[in-house]
Amino acid sequence: MVSAHAPGKVILVGEHAVVYGRPAIAVPVWETVARARVTPNAAGRGCVIHARDLGRTIALAEAGGDEPLAAVARATLAHLGLPTAPDWQIDLTSTIPMASGMGSGAAVCAALVRALFAQAGEVPDPATVSDLVYRAEQIYHGTPSGIDNTVVAYGQPVWFVRGSPPVVFTPARPFTLVIADSGEPGLTKQTVAAVRARRQENPPRYETWFDEIAALVQAARAAIEQGVPAQLGPLFDHNHALLQQLGVSTARLDRLIAVARRAGAAGAKLSGGGGGGNLIALVDGVSAPAVRAALLAAGAPRVIVTTVAAQPFPVA
Ligand code: PMV
Repeated sequence: MVSAHAPGKVILVGEHAVVYGRPAIAVPVWETVARARVTPNAAGRGCVIHARDLGRTIALAEAGGDEPLAAVARATLAHLGLPTAPDWQIDLTSTIPMASGMGSGAAVCAALVRALFAQAGEVPDPATVSDLVYRAEQIYHGTPSGIDNTVVAYGQPVWFVRGSPPVVFTPARPFTLVIADSGEPGLTKQTVAAVRARRQENPPRYETWFDEIAALVQAARAAIEQGVPAQLGPLFDHNHALLQQLGVSTARLDRLIAVARRAGAAGAKLSGGGGGGNLIALVDGVSAPAVRAALLAAGAPRVIVTTVAAQPFPVA
């Protein structure tokens, strides 16, 4: 039996603009993880994936080409030069909330890839994991930027520009985020399509907003690398204002973000595709409990506190 895991993620800054070639930063969330376990199956039973949280069982020999988990498993087996359906049982579990911008689909696939490599006695490099997971992201999300597969494959903060190799970087000082679910499902595919449609009506206005986002993403990286994460607070606020202009926030997200700021967060914004999903708030040791409590009291159904720090990919 072998097992592997991969973290959840949140986008720190730069969502949506990243689809148009600007940089974004995403960070792993190790408080939530996806796990894959591979055990040998009885001879002749083929390769069967049990996605327990989805309540689904997928026989690799029978699954269609549009089934993301099967697509990733097939691509990984081909990469390893293994038979198309070895007699293996794969169990997938995850504590990462689904449809909330935390990269649950990508993380489950990354855990699956890493577990298949482990079963074959190999250790994949993160770039290979990222490439293999991207195939599933295309099925889940249409035309994804690739940020989710990158951050869950590397397990480190990632500076990401579409079409360029991702840059993994290290926080000079740890910083803490409160991640709160708005209670509305995130609608990444729809909000990406909506931004595309609106941009077509006024490209210069949208390009200006995207450039403004790019500048604050650059400033955010500097703050993290130079060990002054408190500077992220105003950058979060600025980014959220621009995401409101792009039309991807909701009244509920805006209300919860105001609650977080009033409770002592140094800044807050929606995170991910918007239309619902998560918000993130920058906190410190003193403000974290108050912000968490205020968000729960205001109706956020789930709140996670995570610290982003320099850490290697932990062993499963
Ligand atoms: O909702 P999430 O975390 O999957 O993030 C979507 C980020 C976007 O920039 C809106 C889309 C993308 O593919 O990068």
